[in-house]
Amino acid sequence: MLDHDSALALLKAHGQEHVLAFWDRLDEAGRAGLLAQIGEIDFAALETCRALLASRAAAGAPAARAAAAPMEPAPVVELAGVARQASRAVGEAELRAGRVGAIVVAGGQGSRLGFEGPKGCYPVGPVSDAPLFFFHARKLLALARRFGKPVPLYVMTSRTNDAATRAFFEENAFFGLPRGDVFFFSQAMWPALDPDGRIVMDAPGRVFLGPDGHGGMLAALERSGALADMRGRGVESVFYFQVDNPMVDVADPAFVGWHVAQKADVSIKVCAKRDPQEGLGVVVERGGHTEIVEYTEFTDEQKNERLPSGELRWKYGSVAIHVFSRAFLEREAAAGLPLHVAHKKVPHVDAAGATVKPSAPNAYKFEKFIFDSLADAGTVCNVAFDREEEFSPVKNAEGNDSPATCRADLSRKWARWLIAAGVAVPLDGRGYPLRKIEIDPAFANAPGELAGRDLSGVDPSGDVWLH
Ligand code: UTP
Repeated sequence: MLDHDSALALLKAHGQEHVLAFWDRLDEAGRAGLLAQIGEIDFAALETCRALLASRAAAGAPAARAAAAPMEPAPVVELAGVARQASRAVGEAELRAGRVGAIVVAGGQGSRLGFEGPKGCYPVGPVSDAPLFFFHARKLLALARRFGKPVPLYVMTSRTNDAATRAFFEENAFFGLPRGDVFFFSQAMWPALDPDGRIVMDAPGRVFLGPDGHGGMLAALERSGALADMRGRGVESVFYFQVDNPMVDVADPAFVGWHVAQKADVSIKVCAKRDPQEGLGVVVERGGHTEIVEYTEFTDEQKNERLPSGELRWKYGSVAIHVFSRAFLEREAAAGLPLHVAHKKVPHVDAAGATVKPSAPNAYKFEKFIFDSLADAGTVCNVAFDREEEFSPVKNAEGNDSPATCRADLSRKWARWLIAAGVAVPLDGRGYPLRKIEIDPAFANAPGELAGRDLSGVDPSGDVWLH
């Protein structure tokens, strides 16, 4: 553990001695906490961040990609008919052999939602108020029961929400999953820098730290032993998804099967954008590689460009549902990912030591993006999916992609399942059920699984909760 003098020397060597500016005001515990934080800062990485910031300032950031090779929309497969059946059979064989794992990235801060606590604890069950984690875990339970082999779940947390996430799984008896099949691992945290490259303090004795982005997953998988755990279990394909989408078809056998049959390094589920302005990253091909290009990098003209058929030229967006081959994750964990800079509102101390919550961006955060790994991928497959079945995330407190839209979309999806199973569910003009509907994935994880269930007691004139 560092002492004051060695910490000061270290900070001075990197132009960061202001971190100790309030030392005299801190009590013993405050001093120990600050020294521990300083001891954990990766100063070499911090220098990389500062250099990135300086080069950005010099170039009048952000660095434009316009000069790069021209891009084309990436080819997309619509898995249907015989191809879907064949892929499903391959995926089911992988699941039966226990060669499939799942990663849920749940280390984000959920700042748009404004929920205290891990986002995975957010209640979304239309009837039960069950949390996001419930739906993910119960899908894995359903798969394990159906195929006779577990699909181990690797939950990526951040240091901010790791303890709360683990405690939540404990309190909920792991939602029925064997605890040995759930592996928590934590991504790294980075300091933020002010425009002069100085570490931001958010309290007199505390360095502000933020998660290093979903791309931090690769190093964290390696560091935590999760990759070794996968290897030990014989997991070859890893289904990746984000915590905030309870509609996701976890370890979808047809998607996994296509990935395996194509011997892909990475597979990407893509869907048609809701409208030209929807903020999904677009899947493109450039210089012989697949890339996911953020919508902010598209001009309005590009966003609205249409083919002679009337379809958007840049139609397909990624919603961060992937399959990675485990071998590719291992290679990428060793190779590392580039850093991105984001100008954000970061709480900071003023000269008097009071914490200020800024109303405008004041500092820079540094993040890694998982899709940057595509630059190193061999075969990449893009597979189209139906967003009404599989995508309705909880991102914002209100409006689009909010808890209200997510709960309504969940009810609508399960209403479709019930109707297909012969239950007369009354719908409004837009296809939403008049009452709330919820199905525990362990009760039925796909429409076909309702066929074997006794639905005679289901009364859709009231709320329906099948569990
Ligand atoms: P978002 O980019 O939507 O971020 O993350 P967020 O933290 O959930 O919400 P905002 O932007 O602060 O409002 C997409 C997914 O990636 C995970 C999130 O938990 C979510 O599942 N994520 C994001 C991480 O695991 N780590 C990160 O550092 C960032």
